[in-house]
Amino acid sequence: DKVHVFAPATVANMICGYDILGFAVDYPGDEVIMKKTEKLGIEILTITGDEGKLPLDAMKNTVSHSAWKLFCDLGLQDSFGLSIELHKKMPIGSGLGSSAASTVSGLFALNELLGKPLSKNELLPYCMEGERLACGAAHADNVAPSLFGGITLIPSYEPILVRSLPVPENLYVTLIYSKVEVPTKDARKLIKDKVQLSKAIKQWGNIASLVAALYENDYEEIGRSMQDDIIEPNRSLLIPYFNEMKSISLENNALTFGISGSGPTVMALSKSKLGAENIEQKLNDFLTIKEIEHLSFVSKIN
Ligand code: HSE
Repeated sequence: DKVHVFAPATVANMICGYDILGFAVDYPGDEVIMKKTEKLGIEILTITGDEGKLPLDAMKNTVSHSAWKLFCDLGLQDSFGLSIELHKKMPIGSGLGSSAASTVSGLFALNELLGKPLSKNELLPYCMEGERLACGAAHADNVAPSLFGGITLIPSYEPILVRSLPVPENLYVTLIYSKVEVPTKDARKLIKDKVQLSKAIKQWGNIASLVAALYENDYEEIGRSMQDDIIEPNRSLLIPYFNEMKSISLENNALTFGISGSGPTVMALSKSKLGAENIEQKLNDFLTIKEIEHLSFVSKIN
């Protein structure tokens, strides 16, 4: 009558694939402990690691909102109740899919607690509702990789489809979160709704070659494909020293560098753990000199 689950942080967009590509990392992430209770309803007992930022109101928190919807759709709301402990092991509002990790951990925990009545494909639409609650748009490029793991592609939103792509063996990411607030809702407003054809052509070329490169384990082509001229120029303005961090990363053999999700976290990809750690060190040194408060992670894509 009790489950303990982990849902990973995710890097949405993979630079070139706005709202359609994303990957999961092995760390950080969210942990949820969910229990059946005699008391009806859903209750968040504790939240740790959020610096008091997240609501304890179960209808306002992504960890419980969609889980409750699923619970009611299954007609269980009069049979027993649910209690949740949420342990956030990742920064909030950072571009690392924090709301998605909470949504996925809540729904995944519920599904496990009930003996897995739903498949992951069936859980996905519920997960997307958590994103709607968090930022007003039911984008799937964080929840899909958090739920399925690895690298995911959303080939279609109507109907929603998800496809797992191959994960090259030695792909590591350096994640740098500068402590400035960039809510996804605001970051989405920065994007123009019209795209120049020449830029669109470049972008769909990038996406196609990225997918091919993942199938072929071609690390250099993965890096070359992960470029973005459409969204990065606007969003990068909100990230302190974005261009400098990009230069430092590329000088230190990053395969590519860009914004993680809607930012402010940035990501550099490497083909070894050592390479990713070296970039982490260089960027940490740089930001420390510039007196920018930040966190860093080196994670494996899986
Ligand atoms: N695709 C979304 C965006 C991801 O870029 O707004 C948000 O993390």
